[in-house]
Amino acid sequence: MAQVGYSKKVMEHFMNPKNVGVIDSPDGYGKVGNPVCGDLMEIFIKVKEDKVEDIKFRTFGCGSAIAVSSMVTEMAMGKSLEEAMKITRKDVADELDGLPPQKMHCSNLGADALHAAIEDYWVKIGKIKPEDVKPKSHEGEEGESCGT
Ligand code: FES
Repeated sequence: MAQVGYSKKVMEHFMNPKNVGVIDSPDGYGKVGNPVCGDLMEIFIKVKEDKVEDIKFRTFGCGSAIAVSSMVTEMAMGKSLEEAMKITRKDVADELDGLPPQKMHCSNLGADALHAAIEDYWVKIGKIKPEDVKPKSHEGEEGESCGT
């Protein structure tokens, strides 16, 4: 069922976003662009004992992108990298009690930037090779519905 308007949680995270900012000398850094609107998202992580010890974001995106980023950082904080890697765009949108259909593409940025930051760290420590990193932000991949 298509949802119109913004959920209370989206508004809360938009008005009072968590984990905004930059981490100096991050262990992992992810930057992705949204092909639909051209907006940008950056995520910085600190890793300790294979867990997300600290995470911050900076976005040049809309209100939904801010809410999504705030939520994704809260979801990832303290998780193991493997667990954080499994957070999907849909998980983030679900945690926010949904996004309006025309804003579903905004949920791409958060999870994609998080995954990019983790992969950046994994490349640095030699766990994966740069060529193993998959391109991000392909609208509509993974068979996800955009609410239509
Ligand atoms: Fe660009 Fe929402 S309109 S991220």
